[in-house]
Amino acid sequence: MSLTPPINTPASPTPPGEAAVTEAAEDVHTAHTLADAEPPSDEEILAVEDLTVEFPTDDGAVQAVRGLSYRLRAREVLGIVGESGSGKSVSSMAIMGLLPKSARIRGSIRYRGTELLGLRPKQQRALRGRRIAMIFQDPMTSLNPVRSIGDQLAEAVLAHHLVPRRQALARAREMLDLVGIPQAEKRLRAYPHEFSGGMRQRVMIAMAIINDPDVIIADEPTTALDVTVQAQILEKLLEVKDEVNAAILMITHDLGVIAGMAHRTLVMYAGKPVEVAGTDQVFYEPRMPYTAGLLGSIPALDGDRDARLRPIGGSPPSLIQLPVGCPFSPRCPLATDECRTDEPALAEVGDGHLAACHHHERLAEAEDATAFFRTAEEGR
Ligand SMILES: Nc1ncnc2c1ncn2[C@@H]1O[C@H](COP(=O)(O)OP(=O)(O)O)[C@@H](O)[C@H]1O
Ligand code: SF4
Ligand SMILES: [Mg+2]
Repeated sequence: MSLTPPINTPASPTPPGEAAVTEAAEDVHTAHTLADAEPPSDEEILAVEDLTVEFPTDDGAVQAVRGLSYRLRAREVLGIVGESGSGKSVSSMAIMGLLPKSARIRGSIRYRGTELLGLRPKQQRALRGRRIAMIFQDPMTSLNPVRSIGDQLAEAVLAHHLVPRRQALARAREMLDLVGIPQAEKRLRAYPHEFSGGMRQRVMIAMAIINDPDVIIADEPTTALDVTVQAQILEKLLEVKDEVNAAILMITHDLGVIAGMAHRTLVMYAGKPVEVAGTDQVFYEPRMPYTAGLLGSIPALDGDRDARLRPIGGSPPSLIQLPVGCPFSPRCPLATDECRTDEPALAEVGDGHLAACHHHERLAEAEDATAFFRTAEEGR
């Protein structure tokens, strides 16, 4: 149960009153890890189906997203991981209705059964920031430098609720408390530049949850922060998600960030999902070489902090002229002729485990799937 009373809306005419809002803010329970968090329910909140996004350019169409499907259940955290340029942000912007007009979008995105593609701008705005909220990598691009934090948070409330400004500010204060900003009352009057990077990102979390969303899309929310602050922010995000009963799409280029933070993980490569499984399965039983390569490039995973970072050799393909066959084949140590002619489909390779690879059994047989990349590197 959410301890934060939903804000009073025209549809629910009983005002909770400031006293109730303040009281709830003091009575915060703490869920620091995913294991402590409320488990996901079976209720489907978001369903993305065969989403494709193309951008026409003078050189040809950029195929940014090429058939992405996933389902997000209530309170679930789904990690979406892939190198820069794999289509993570474009696919989340499609959910938010924030892609440029030039984008050619096909497929389906349903929120609680309602199709979002093709919604009129007014309907889209009613959803954005209310039912589905987004946290971006760089808070400075989302915050207005010349307006106080309190003003901006209150405005987020007033955009969706007919409540007195005083009540919107009380809600803003409550949210700052909730995300762990000390002296919330005083901080409401401060400006973004008076906050540290970590504190600004906390403000963005407050902004995301202020209207009690069902889905929070966190797009590289901690990439700009140092490692200790990153951990604090992610922990806070998991904690507050239960306060508002939200599901999270946790988007990152860093597989290390997902460990212990997501129930399931979807790995993207060149605009497509290439592996989808429970997060532990992805870490301990990867079935797609690209995932294994990403695992091998996380430095502290095996506890050996001196181990050299092993990024996957080569670079992602051009999205205008994709290679024939598996798009990972030019970089894959397991590639065979079949890989260079036929693109593998995403198929079930285990219980709740999907992978797109012709040779997934070879990974199943290997003691350490990341070793394929080490051997390939040593052979160079
Ligand atoms: N407006 C645009 N016009 C053309 N190409 C774009 C546009 N927006 C994104 N792209 C391209 O789409 C691909 C996927 O981008 P993106 O989703 O931002 O990747 P990431 O996984 O790093 O978030 C990239 O190759 C990017 O250059
Ligand atoms: S299909 Fe072939 S090239 Fe692609 S990831 Fe699997 S083994 Fe590598
Ligand atoms: Mg991105």
